[in-house]
Amino acid sequence: CLQKVDTFLHRSIGTNVVAAQSEATRKDESDEKEKDGRKSLYVVQAERQEQAEKSVLISCNSRTNEKKFLKHLSRHGDIKKHFFYESYGMYAVVEFVNQESVASLLEEAAIPSVSHESMVPFKSRLLSLRNVGSVASPNQQPGQQCQPQTTIPINELIQRLSREESIDQQITSLTEAYQLTEENSRLRFLVCSLLKDIAAAYFPECNIKPFGSSVNGFGKLGCDLDMFLDLDGISGRNIKMPKSGLCLEYQMKRANSERAVTQSILSVIGECVDQFGPGCAGVHKILNARCPLVRFAHQPSGFQCDLTTNNRVAMKSTELLYLYGELDPRVRCLVFTVRCWARAHGVTSSIPGAWITNFSLTVMVLFFLQRRSSPIIPTLDHLRDLAGPADKSVIEGNDCTFVSDFSKIQLHSNTETLEQLLCGFFEFYAAFPFSMKSINIRKGKEQNKPEVAPLHIQNPFENSLNVSKNVNATQLDRFVALCQESTWLLQKSETNTPTPTPWGLASLLLPSQVAGIKSRKKRRREPASERIKSLLESLKNKNEQKTS
Ligand code: CTP
Ligand code: MG
Repeated sequence: CLQKVDTFLHRSIGTNVVAAQSEATRKDESDEKEKDGRKSLYVVQAERQEQAEKSVLISCNSRTNEKKFLKHLSRHGDIKKHFFYESYGMYAVVEFVNQESVASLLEEAAIPSVSHESMVPFKSRLLSLRNVGSVASPNQQPGQQCQPQTTIPINELIQRLSREESIDQQITSLTEAYQLTEENSRLRFLVCSLLKDIAAAYFPECNIKPFGSSVNGFGKLGCDLDMFLDLDGISGRNIKMPKSGLCLEYQMKRANSERAVTQSILSVIGECVDQFGPGCAGVHKILNARCPLVRFAHQPSGFQCDLTTNNRVAMKSTELLYLYGELDPRVRCLVFTVRCWARAHGVTSSIPGAWITNFSLTVMVLFFLQRRSSPIIPTLDHLRDLAGPADKSVIEGNDCTFVSDFSKIQLHSNTETLEQLLCGFFEFYAAFPFSMKSINIRKGKEQNKPEVAPLHIQNPFENSLNVSKNVNATQLDRFVALCQESTWLLQKSETNTPTPTPWGLASLLLPSQVAGIKSRKKRRREPASERIKSLLESLKNKNEQKTS
């Protein structure tokens, strides 16, 4: 990677040198930090991007013979890693050892011949495997094992959790079942890299990076893919004019505001994705939002994608959440559990509206962990105080500085179990004075509410913004009532032996029994008692199968 930075320095225009040098310095520093076993998000991103650039995505047949397939591809060079998955058909992700292999493979690929339709001749690393002139023999077995790219259904999860021996194990098991897999992470970076190839038609030095739950450590299989079109390398932000003498500068088109530039770039890239992007469908340009974006479905991966640009504060909050998640393993476990619980009860939703978002919920968990009598994670102000000169970051007037070196962060000793923390979370928010106080992870203390809103969570970096401005009183009341009910359920749950009846965390994921807080979604479905009955029935059947 350093070699790459070096090559970039040589061919780069002078204005970019400063940016490239500081990236290289950051990489050197990050290598140092890797020594304690934890990688900074910056290092993870760089590694994954490099893998993605050496990878291709191939649609193939479920009867494809894996051995033959790999033999065919390895004519272009050694393969480092490959895996298969299903998403409206079978796909393979193949990573080569060298990037030249990808070029060689693309050189050999054919243009499809179609008789009735015409095609946009845009070539990309999304390919199809054809078996010309041969018919798959009927006794051929479907060859490959597919890597799952979606989570297990909630009922299956409840069954799995019911078989665990403690609530702590249930929480760990839930996290393992829901978190992104190695393969899913690779696929996310590959989709960004494919998109970059489209955007590079206009901006050859651009980069497209994933942010949000795809990389912050709290992403669940199936979560959306938030992408950031990074034009910093060419935006001239880091220009250093010579003090005297001649100097050339680019003539560039001007616009009224940075927002107008963002909108026009996203509009054009969105149009390209729509018209030329293989596998991209349902493109919507949402340019009047506070943060303009292009939303579309990437069909081969099954990801719902949101492409933004000029969204550097969100990149910073992604980095912050990643750091908090890496500080103590209990952080990620608790966030996964609370997110899953909230989804099961319709506290969060995939449809935008007055619901609490996963991001808000994550900040609420972090705040709770800062409020323990022996805090599990430090405040953001403390992380800012620990920052070194290379960590300094001010974005649009907002101080986004915080330490990136894990070894500088001293944690309090806190030995609470996951069970205690989950109970504690529900108790904390069941009694939180939402009407008067605001949640603030920068200070790690509740603050007086600066404005009227049912739920006020201060944006960690843009202090005047409320992350949960969209939440209405009804949704907050449901959240509080569910916290009260869950506190009660956990207190009465004393079973410590695995049983087919949902217990502990599993019982918290069942439809709520409290009148008035039944989930919106579930009201339309069969009554809760029926669902529990069928769940118990299937657990019984499974147990019988196991013992027979
Ligand atoms: N973000 C932010 N302020 C907000 C909303 C979002 O800074 N009010 C940033 C956060 O870094 C967040 C990212 O944008 O992680 C993506 O937002 P979103 O997709 O809504 O949340 P995710 O964390 O990705 O969670 P999900 O799995 O629900 O997509
Ligand atoms: Mg997201």
